[in-house]
Amino acid sequence: MTAKLILGKEVSEEIYGELRQRIEALKAKGVTPGLAVVLVGDDPASQVYVRKKGEMCEELGMKSLTVRMPQETTQEELLSKVAELNADPSIHGFLVQLPLPDHIDEEAVINAIDPSKDVDCFHPWNVGRMLIGNPDFLPATPAGVQQMLVRSGVETAGKHVVVVGRSNIVGKPMAAMMVQKGAGADSTVTVVHSRTGNLAEITSTADILIVAIGKPRFVTADMVKEGAVVIDVGTNRVTDPTHPKGSRLVGDVDFEEVSEKASYITPVPGGVGPMTICMLMANAVRAAEKVVG
Ligand code: GUN
Repeated sequence: MTAKLILGKEVSEEIYGELRQRIEALKAKGVTPGLAVVLVGDDPASQVYVRKKGEMCEELGMKSLTVRMPQETTQEELLSKVAELNADPSIHGFLVQLPLPDHIDEEAVINAIDPSKDVDCFHPWNVGRMLIGNPDFLPATPAGVQQMLVRSGVETAGKHVVVVGRSNIVGKPMAAMMVQKGAGADSTVTVVHSRTGNLAEITSTADILIVAIGKPRFVTADMVKEGAVVIDVGTNRVTDPTHPKGSRLVGDVDFEEVSEKASYITPVPGGVGPMTICMLMANAVRAAEKVVG
């Protein structure tokens, strides 16, 4: 079998079309959704993400605020910025880009964000609401994966979903979302990770395999069932002398091998990647809609 591609660009364009209408409806009521991103220090990857988030806000006609703070920012200064954004009525949602410098306690910063503005869905309040199946926001990357499945017509009810990886940002919330009742979920879920003994044996039983373990080309064809749906959340930069930059991006899945066996697959780049910012924008619009009522 040669797999059909699920492309984040296509799925996100469909969602952006819906968001534009919701933004217009908000503006007709006098509200422009506002998203702020706080960036501490000058991590190059974070700079790129933060710039992309700002550009997408502008493109959608939302208010965008990027707060750049120096590497030496103290925890107290950052917490005071969070308090300021919590109180700013023109900012409906905001996030503090991670990772933060080592001298700052990430958990304390996340806990200080007003849960009603926590568009990352990292605050324990929102994580808890998601877990009990009454979410206000959904975390962007897992929500993007779920939208890719739903909008590609992949049946999830009663299917065996195997999530590879147990991070707080992807693996754990992904598993929690797929086990919920409702559309795009109702799955039987197994989580495997770096300490799982018989990992390949379990992944081979997956109807839907979602991989977020952060290891280049970790999943090979022998670990995948014929006809499985394979979603690759990984982005790893590997050296490649044949490439103009001397390196290129690969996923956590060996695309060449696995695409011969899967029924659907997401490529890297161009697969899950574009969905994360899209779902962040969806959360920002939702945050503004909650205020309008
Ligand atoms: N760093 C990498 N991904 C993310 C994300 O989704 N949110 C935040 N705040 N930081 C990140």
